[in-house]
Amino acid sequence: MPQNASKRVFIKTYGCQMNVYDSDRMADALAPHGYMPTQEIGEADLVLLNTCHIREKASEKVFSELGRLKELQGEKRAAGGDMMIGVAGCVAQAEGEEIARRAPVVDLVFGPQAYHRLPDMLARAQSQRHMHPALKKAVIDTDFPEEDKFAHLPAARKEATIARGLTAFLTVQEGCDKFCSFCVVPYTRGAEVSRPVSQVLDEARLLVDAGVKEITLLGQNVNAYHGTDGAGRDIGLGELCYLLAEIPGLERLRYTTSHPRDMDDGLIAAHRDLPLLMPYLHLPVQSGSDRILKAMNRKHTAAEYLSLIERIKAARPDMALSGDFIVGFPGETDQDFEDTLTIIRDTGYASAYSFKYSTRPGTPGANLGDQVPEEIKTERLYRLQELVNQQTTAFHASMVGKTLPVLVERVGRMPGQVGGRSPYLQAVHLEGATDLIGAIRQVEIIGTSTNSLVGRLVRASAA
Ligand code: 5AD
Ligand code: SF4
Repeated sequence: MPQNASKRVFIKTYGCQMNVYDSDRMADALAPHGYMPTQEIGEADLVLLNTCHIREKASEKVFSELGRLKELQGEKRAAGGDMMIGVAGCVAQAEGEEIARRAPVVDLVFGPQAYHRLPDMLARAQSQRHMHPALKKAVIDTDFPEEDKFAHLPAARKEATIARGLTAFLTVQEGCDKFCSFCVVPYTRGAEVSRPVSQVLDEARLLVDAGVKEITLLGQNVNAYHGTDGAGRDIGLGELCYLLAEIPGLERLRYTTSHPRDMDDGLIAAHRDLPLLMPYLHLPVQSGSDRILKAMNRKHTAAEYLSLIERIKAARPDMALSGDFIVGFPGETDQDFEDTLTIIRDTGYASAYSFKYSTRPGTPGANLGDQVPEEIKTERLYRLQELVNQQTTAFHASMVGKTLPVLVERVGRMPGQVGGRSPYLQAVHLEGATDLIGAIRQVEIIGTSTNSLVGRLVRASAA
């Protein structure tokens, strides 16, 4: 037990699943130092904002949140209490000192590569609190590491491992070397780094021992994973999946986010061979126009993407796809946009995320002329989303009459109901007792509602 478990930390997470995972790791790193997580910001002794810098005015959102926190801190101090404030994540990495300068209320600013140093930073920030405000300086750590942060984080984890339910994220790879011209990630998360195989397997076993049935492997470029095993061999993501599949009790495996260029034969073979690898793949293409793909530095064509999808479906015929799209990249013409609609029709997505291009300072895209006017971006986004929504609705409808394995995860919205997920991450509601929670059961899909499926337990089924 931590010596002084009386403190509370509130972590607010913005952005992607990697940030969700990182927030949990921060909580783990703090637990042995007496900080327990709270969902109540009012009772927090420490508030951490785990920020995202991917799009829009992300840093402005952080500054307005800091304004609110300053007020809350004022109220707490007036009542004889106090609260420390830290900014983590990709805005912290990108803006560093600027945050501390503009918002002196902040005690700590630290990037994604510094999370294992959090307890130490916190101790330093605490010693500053007794200083005169004019002398007080925020503790800032936005260095890229010389040491491997993952080698330090799991130690804290073991002590603090709490069952996180039936599904969990596991970061296997971080950073990006691709330099798509719109994207800030190579600058905020740094170069591609893969965790050693043994570390990944150990963490997966820990999660499964804590009751987890489904693991989603995370990485900004997860299929660029190249870890090293005990014998010094290079292991790709496909091979890693075969190794994870041997863990008794692990029933489902997913990974996200992938780049088409890293979808190699080994990974496609894993989809062919491993039933636990779910037939649902997030494989962003961003645009269907070869001209725009080139300007985005994606290093593949629309035709190459489509033939890749064919190869994947040949290996795993029930594979469903999701994607990301950017509309209004500089220079995007009506014809380029039509090409994007065409690739969406040709691929057929189960779901997709789509965004208006937003200029990220420091990226090559920021220096391009020929920006697309806002109202054209809005219209294109609307048309694209309409097409994707039709595909999503059709995909859900195509499930009716099928029997799907459903991981039952929680009590349902209505009494006597439980809820779970299909292999395609669709929410499924069904009549059933709560003792089904944790099991994978065969469920016949009998209907759909807006964003979910309605099912009926197939009796006497062994999943
Ligand atoms: N503008 C709009 N969308 C972006 N994305 C990444 N950078 C930008 C940007 N500058 C989208 C891409 C990526 C997803 C995570 O966010 O579609 O796949
Ligand atoms: Fe946001 Fe990308 Fe950083 Fe995730 S990696 S927090 S999506 S900028």
